[in-house]
Amino acid sequence: MAVVGIVPAAGSGERLGADGPNAFVVCAGKPLVEWSLEVLSEVCERVVVAVPPGVQLGADRVLGGAVRSESVRIALAAAPEAEIAVVHDAARPLLTRSLVERCVQAVRDGWDGAVAAAPMADTVKQAAPDGRVERTLDRSRLWSIQTPQVFRADVLRRALEVPAGVLAAATDDASLVEAAGGAVCVVESPPENLKVTRRVDLLLAETLLRDRAGC
Ligand code: C5P
Repeated sequence: MAVVGIVPAAGSGERLGADGPNAFVVCAGKPLVEWSLEVLSEVCERVVVAVPPGVQLGADRVLGGAVRSESVRIALAAAPEAEIAVVHDAARPLLTRSLVERCVQAVRDGWDGAVAAAPMADTVKQAAPDGRVERTLDRSRLWSIQTPQVFRADVLRRALEVPAGVLAAATDDASLVEAAGGAVCVVESPPENLKVTRRVDLLLAETLLRDRAGC
């Protein structure tokens, strides 16, 4: 089955406070997105990246959309040969080959989707807008959801065919697949698979990537 990587990298990265888009901020010596591309290229036959305006386009570099899931839809449309789609945010540079392979294997085993996830370490409460706690959730069955998110490509294509408002409200692709009736499983990720959103994440990622690269 043709395994294709889909990397949304078109975000502006305002929360990071960098000059340019967050995926292209230099971290441990290279642009953030390059760390993920290196790992994905070991597992995927091809990797299509959704980039922000101003970045050179090409067959594997397409202009991203206004929201994340739109960027995923555009990049997936550029890979009609994909049978398994490995969606991974450029903002998670500490991806490991083993995590990608375990998610791909779960889809080969019959799941429509398999998502990297961390068991919830904190207690989770639901609160009203005024701060009043409404309830405490049972964390033993709660997972914090990350990327990679791997899908049967035909299932993901169908799930992404929704109105723009639904795409904009989706915080991950698996929720769209679930809403379309797809069966999705969680795959436990290593603790370092963090998302670079704020400056503190960038500093942590820099340390971990330098440690990994031995420099
Ligand atoms: O911050 P957010 O969760 O939206 O970003 C997750 C990933 O989605 C980042 O890698 C970012 O570059 C990407 N993104 C995108 N297109 C957008 C918004 C975010 O590719 N319009």
